Amino acid sequence: MKNNTSSFNNIPFQTLFSEEMISSRVKELGLQIANDYQGKNPVFICVLRGGVYFFSDLTKAVPIPIELDFIQAKSYVGTESTGNVELIKDLDSDITGRDVLIVEDIVDTGRTLKFLISHILSKKPKSLEVASLLFKEGGEAAGYPIKYVGWNIGKEFVIGYGLDYDGKFRNLPGVFLYSEE
Ligand code: IMP
Repeated sequence: MKNNTSSFNNIPFQTLFSEEMISSRVKELGLQIANDYQGKNPVFICVLRGGVYFFSDLTKAVPIPIELDFIQAKSYVGTESTGNVELIKDLDSDITGRDVLIVEDIVDTGRTLKFLISHILSKKPKSLEVASLLFKEGGEAAGYPIKYVGWNIGKEFVIGYGLDYDGKFRNLPGVFLYSEE
């Protein structure tokens, strides 16, 4: 097996970002975010399900008081090109007048984020920023600046650290390139 591959259930995947790389990048982002939100008691919103590991690690890397909430959206299966997104789970807390940070796993076409931003802005937060572990080429279509990005990547399909292929591979500890071989 090549150095940059990792085996999961005997399937070799090429490593894009190892567990160690993610851990150190998340710590950097955490300190940057803590610095920006000092004294603000922000609400961090986890975008389920993909954002779960990034959210979990990032919130622990932010050494200031924060509150947590969860939201879930889904692109309509089979109508991806129309960009329809459905809200599956809304926030539980009232974020009106609060400083809010959306925590995403990946921004690909930007459609999901565009939907979430418009939904969250309708609740009138004081401020709204986005943190995404990965930002795919073309994600600018979200039409909103993404303040905190782990890494920019190309159009490749990736799995692990919350990201799935057909519901699988979310629990890989790093981010890997998906290939069917
Ligand atoms: P978007 O609406 O096209 O930006 O994509 C939103 C969602 O698609 C993400 O939150 C992921 O759940 C999923 N997605 C996009 N690209 C990938 C990928 O490379 N691997 C796994 N999931 C992806």
